[in-house]
Amino acid sequence: MANFTIVSMVLFFLSLGFKDVSARGDEQSLTIRGFADGETGFWSRNLLLSEDNRFRELEELARGYMTNAELEKSVKEYAQKCRNISRIYSIGTSVKGFPLWVIEISDKPGEEEAEPAFKLLANMHGDEPVGRELLLLLANWLCENYLKDHLATYIVRNIHLHILPTMNPDGFSLRRRGNANNVDLNRDFPDQFFTENNDDNLRQPETKAIMKWMMERKFIASASLHGGALVANYPWDGSEDTRKQYYASPDDKTFRYLASLYSQSHRNMSLSKEFQGGITNGASWYPIYGGMQDWNYIHRGCFELTLEVGDNKWPKAEELPALWKDNKMSLLNLVASVAKSGVHGRILSSKTGLPLPASIKIKDINYTVKAGQRFGDYHRLLAPSQSYDVTAFMPGYESKTTRILLENGAMNLDFVLIPEEEPKDHMDLCNGCQCNCDNKGKLEVMEVFNRNHFQITLALIAISGVLCLIFMGRLRLKLQKRRQLVGHKRTIVA
Ligand SMILES: *[C@@H]1O[C@H](CO)[C@@H](O)[C@H](O)[C@H]1NC(C)=O
Ligand SMILES: *[C@@H]1O[C@H](CO)[C@@H](O)[C@H](O)[C@H]1NC(C)=O
Ligand SMILES: [Zn+2]
Repeated sequence: MANFTIVSMVLFFLSLGFKDVSARGDEQSLTIRGFADGETGFWSRNLLLSEDNRFRELEELARGYMTNAELEKSVKEYAQKCRNISRIYSIGTSVKGFPLWVIEISDKPGEEEAEPAFKLLANMHGDEPVGRELLLLLANWLCENYLKDHLATYIVRNIHLHILPTMNPDGFSLRRRGNANNVDLNRDFPDQFFTENNDDNLRQPETKAIMKWMMERKFIASASLHGGALVANYPWDGSEDTRKQYYASPDDKTFRYLASLYSQSHRNMSLSKEFQGGITNGASWYPIYGGMQDWNYIHRGCFELTLEVGDNKWPKAEELPALWKDNKMSLLNLVASVAKSGVHGRILSSKTGLPLPASIKIKDINYTVKAGQRFGDYHRLLAPSQSYDVTAFMPGYESKTTRILLENGAMNLDFVLIPEEEPKDHMDLCNGCQCNCDNKGKLEVMEVFNRNHFQITLALIAISGVLCLIFMGRLRLKLQKRRQLVGHKRTIVA
């Protein structure tokens, strides 16, 4: 417990030290917010005034952008106008009760198919509004060009594209980064290193909605649109020791391929002087913890990029058409890449011919991709122009490996797995439980414990339960404080 406290304090002070984080944040408003909170007197009054001015300035800048009500209206109109290729649904509501609308685009919207799904979301940071406009422009472009333009038709036919234009409508109407509770949603996800972020009770409704959404359906890849820099950012976002350094995920090559696809298709992202090729590893730019991108990849098999679509968070609304033009091919190519690159196929049982929810592994890449339950379809994104050893495996079946040379396009590779010989008396307990749910297996387990063991175990469980409650109570208090602080700091940082 002591170690844990020390570690969290160290992490907290380190997090205060991320000063060099200019681009992903808005330094000016950060500084102001940092001082204005809490202090009173001349300085803070002045600072509050400038915060006020800043708000008025933002109101001015927001002119010509859709309000939340207008956004909702255009989502609903879209569903009417483009009903042959779309449907809309809400994944939950913000703190203030605004629905988080999603547009699904496909030639069979709402139907499950053996096709990859891609999700695009924007406005996770309330003060980064360009993405929400771009995503509606994208949806409209697809609707208008389906059956006219080759790429539009390809995307609608081969991919299920889900678009969430705003993840943080409350932050948008407040013209600030955080949500209505002033929490930075891109620090609110469970974290692989910063495990004290993993208490679900502290999570914001917007974050919970995303996590639930991700549990209910399978997205192969996604992108989250931000503003304040011009770069395509890929995992990892955090490094284990909190140092700013290149911290590669198992799929570093694939991520660099996807990020480059975005930056190279953009009018000038790849010309960046700050980021070579217009792409960056998150931790080498600056490490963050509790981000959405890493969580997607670690827990949901979803390859997510964080796209910073412009240095200016609030360009004038008149510039939006030009920004759409700059990002159009990038967005289309990235979405299409879930079907146009990598290895795809189905995994079936040799015995029944039925789909298997098996898994795919690539030699030398420590990452597993799961096939879909219903169709046994898998979609494994990979960098092109390389050979790979692809293994399909599933408990109870002999695994199979095939060597492929992946060229520039996607490759189709189906697997038929043969059940392992399993002599009846070697069936393990768990299989037994699943096969005949007559509780026999469970009773046997109980009998393994003799009475004494059982009582001691119960006592130990009770004691650890009490200790755990005390510990969690303290931790929660500390975390609440810490989150507030981190929220403010992050507001500054980016
Ligand atoms: C890209 O173009 C925009 C708009 O003209 C400009 O503000 C920005 O500095 C350019 N960035 C790069 C890296 O060339
Ligand atoms: C593979 O990744 C898992 C986490 O997903 C990790 O626990 C394990 O140590 C890794 N194995 C190797 C050989 O790096
Ligand atoms: Zn952002």
